[in-house]
Amino acid sequence: MPSPDYSSYSKLAVEAAKSAGKIAMEYYEKPASSFLIGAKDNPNSIVTKADRECEQCIRDYLSKKAPGTSFLGEEGGHTGSSELLWIIDPIDGTTNFANKVPLFAISIGLAAGTDLLAGAVFNPATGELFSASKGKGALLNGKQIKVAPKCGEGEMIVASDWPHEFPSRKIVSDFIAKQSQKRRYVPVLGTAALSLAWVAAGRFHAYCQPTLHEWDLAAGALLITEAGGRMTRWDNSAWKLGNADTIGSNGYFKV
Ligand code: IPD
Repeated sequence: MPSPDYSSYSKLAVEAAKSAGKIAMEYYEKPASSFLIGAKDNPNSIVTKADRECEQCIRDYLSKKAPGTSFLGEEGGHTGSSELLWIIDPIDGTTNFANKVPLFAISIGLAAGTDLLAGAVFNPATGELFSASKGKGALLNGKQIKVAPKCGEGEMIVASDWPHEFPSRKIVSDFIAKQSQKRRYVPVLGTAALSLAWVAAGRFHAYCQPTLHEWDLAAGALLITEAGGRMTRWDNSAWKLGNADTIGSNGYFKV
């Protein structure tokens, strides 16, 4: 039996991400003081007017085009009761965004339970748009992407990232210290969604973060598996949506 085609959902995610991207870029051109709202539950986790407007724009668009679906958004929480769930990070990399660093992304994934079906990651500052639907591969601006081929351990580019919480940063600083002694490079972009998309595009061999939320990774995780890579937990066991400790790789990385 042919597997269901979810590409119409990935097209919806792409359109929603593009609309939100326009809003994000209007704010990006302005002084941050005009759109910064402040810190959320953690002093390192900030929110801006752009995050809230982008999420509303995405919710409005998707509820019109895919009526009856549910939402889980970084800013608006969980709404709806359908199993078909849009998982939204309206601006992933908000600190970069507010500081005019052009590394941030709108991330929209669609899941049924822990099954990832479709998604898009869009960086409106560069115009790079990654998309995927289950069983149909992953694309960057319409062209198929693949994870990086196998290489020597010492040639690997292994990215990581700083959680907002200080105690979890200790895990990452220990990890970066170790990896930096045996890998070619250990980048930190400041956006999980984009880092996962870059693994899918073969720019990094792995991305490892111990404390991610569903909205940081739903779309990026699908991009990686559809680009031929693998998602695991930090102990190398199988990863599923809902696990915070996350490794997205080309399939040849172990901590
Ligand atoms: C954060 C970024 C960061 C990651 C954090 C996330 P936000 O998302 O993705 O790279 O390390 O864990 O919370 O707060 O900018 O949407």
